[in-house]
Amino acid sequence: MASEQTETSSYDNFNAKSYLKNNYRMRPDGIPDSHEDWMPWLLNNLKDTFAGGKLSGERLLDVGTGPAIHNLISAAPYFPNITCAEFCQENREEVEKWVRGENDAFDWDPFIKYVCGLEGEGAWEARQVALRDAIQQVVFCDVREENLPEALNGGPYDVVSSIFTLCGVAKDKADFDGIVSNVSSLVKPGGTLILVCDLEATHYTDGKVSFPHTYLEASYIRQAVRNSGFVDVKDDILVFRSIEGLNWDGTGYIYLTARKSSE
Ligand SMILES: C[S@@+](CC[C@H](N)C(=O)[O-])C[C@H]1O[C@@H](n2cnc3c(N)ncnc32)[C@H](O)[C@@H]1O
Repeated sequence: MASEQTETSSYDNFNAKSYLKNNYRMRPDGIPDSHEDWMPWLLNNLKDTFAGGKLSGERLLDVGTGPAIHNLISAAPYFPNITCAEFCQENREEVEKWVRGENDAFDWDPFIKYVCGLEGEGAWEARQVALRDAIQQVVFCDVREENLPEALNGGPYDVVSSIFTLCGVAKDKADFDGIVSNVSSLVKPGGTLILVCDLEATHYTDGKVSFPHTYLEASYIRQAVRNSGFVDVKDDILVFRSIEGLNWDGTGYIYLTARKSSE
């Protein structure tokens, strides 16, 4: 971590442009440029989760979308009603800019092309239009709110995804449990939760500001999800061989899916 960075527990200083520039780049061969290929790993897992319309329903909520829409590319053909819920106004504006197709919006086309390639789908332009149409709401959300369905004026949803958010927001393990429980109230009985978290990290940075993390082991995350009323908890873990050069100190990532118990 660079010494001039500020330590903070708030996302008020989250810098959308810097976050996008640091995390979402393409290599010349059209593959996302990411440490030990974590981005292809993530997008491939999302592709597998949604492939062939395996998940039923129409309404999907993404919690902590940030300024980024790439996590929704594989979902959009099956979920025509997507809500992006995000804490920071700057991030919400970045997503809205992309949905409106404004000139200074981040260019997600290379990511859409990449995911279409993974799916064996050629018509990436149509997928871009479909994703823009599918993102029907971009709303404020604070995962600390205990009555999230009321706060969001929506829900429960068929699918709720939350990618690299809950682990960063939680102040400690008990807080993580509470946040998972809040988010679980947004999932319909029989619906699906998709959760992606850093493993065993204590902080990360957007390049300017350092954000603390709660140290979470995979076993702890699985149990927190089960305790919040989910069954069929499945996951895929990406273990980093090295984190040299990263602004982050974890050991890897977990991609977890679970079904909300119908009882
Ligand atoms: C590491 S970013 C992940 C963004 C995106 N999901 C991605 O994969 O790039 C974490 C996101 O959580 C959002 N966030 C922080 N506190 C939050 C809260 N209390 N409720 C909801 N979202 C929050 C941040 O603004 C940020 O966009």
